[in-house]
Amino acid sequence: MSLDWPQHLTRTTVLPGVDALTAAEPVPLWEAIEASLGVRIGPPFWGHVWPGSLALARQLSTRDLAGVRALDFACGGGLAGVVAAKQGASVLANDIDVLAVEVAQANAALNGVTLAVSTNDLIGAPSSWELVLVGDVFYEAPLVARLVPWLDALVRSGVEVLVGDPGRQFFPRQRARLVAEYEVACVPAWDSVVDRPASVWQWSAS
Ligand SMILES: C[S@@+](CC[C@H](N)C(=O)[O-])C[C@H]1O[C@@H](n2cnc3c(N)ncnc32)[C@H](O)[C@@H]1O
Repeated sequence: MSLDWPQHLTRTTVLPGVDALTAAEPVPLWEAIEASLGVRIGPPFWGHVWPGSLALARQLSTRDLAGVRALDFACGGGLAGVVAAKQGASVLANDIDVLAVEVAQANAALNGVTLAVSTNDLIGAPSSWELVLVGDVFYEAPLVARLVPWLDALVRSGVEVLVGDPGRQFFPRQRARLVAEYEVACVPAWDSVVDRPASVWQWSAS
C-alpha cells in the first residue's frame, strides 16, 4: 500500500526542529484512507503523535545517541524513532500496521533522517538493540500482558528500555523508574484533553 501522505496529513512542527505528518481528527482521516484504498483498515493511530512519544522525543533530544542501535517499538508515526535517528542512533521502526511504518518513513524523510522498518510482531524476539523505545502502548490489557515479560527479558539482557506514558490505565509504574516528566500539548479530538503530563520511565526487570 502506498498513499500520497501529504494529501491526507498536514505537516506540523511538534518540537523545535522536528516536524511530523498529523491529522486534526481521527474519523475523517480513517474514512478518507479507506475510500482511497478501497479496503477496511484499523484505527489510524499513525495520524497522531501520542503524548507518550512526545515525552520520549523530548527526553531523547537531550541525549547523544551516536552509533546506538535502537528499536522504536509500536512506532505509529515514528516520532520517537525520528528523534533518536536525529541524535545519531540507527533505528528500526516497528509496527504491525503497514500504514504506520509508511508514515514513519515519510516523517523520517521530512526530518532528514532514515529509518529501517519492520511490520513483524517482534514481541518475544531476542534483542539486537541497545535501546528500545516504547511510546504510548499501555492502553490495552492483552497487549500489555504480552509486552511485560518481553520488556523484562530485554532489560535482563542488558537493553535500556525507555517507556513514554501519559498515565495509561495498564502502565505498571511500580515496574519502572521515573526519568522525566513533561507537560505535552495534546489534540482534544485524539486525546480527549488539551494538555496532559507525560513521563519517560526506565523499565526495570522484576
Ligand atoms: C497509541 S499508538 C502509539 C504510536 C506511537 N508509539 C506514538 O506514541 O505516537 C499504538 C501503536 O501500537 C501498535 N501496535 C499494537 N500492537 C503491536 C505489536 N504487537 N507490535 C507492534 N506494534 C503494535 C499499533 O499499531 C499502534 O500504531
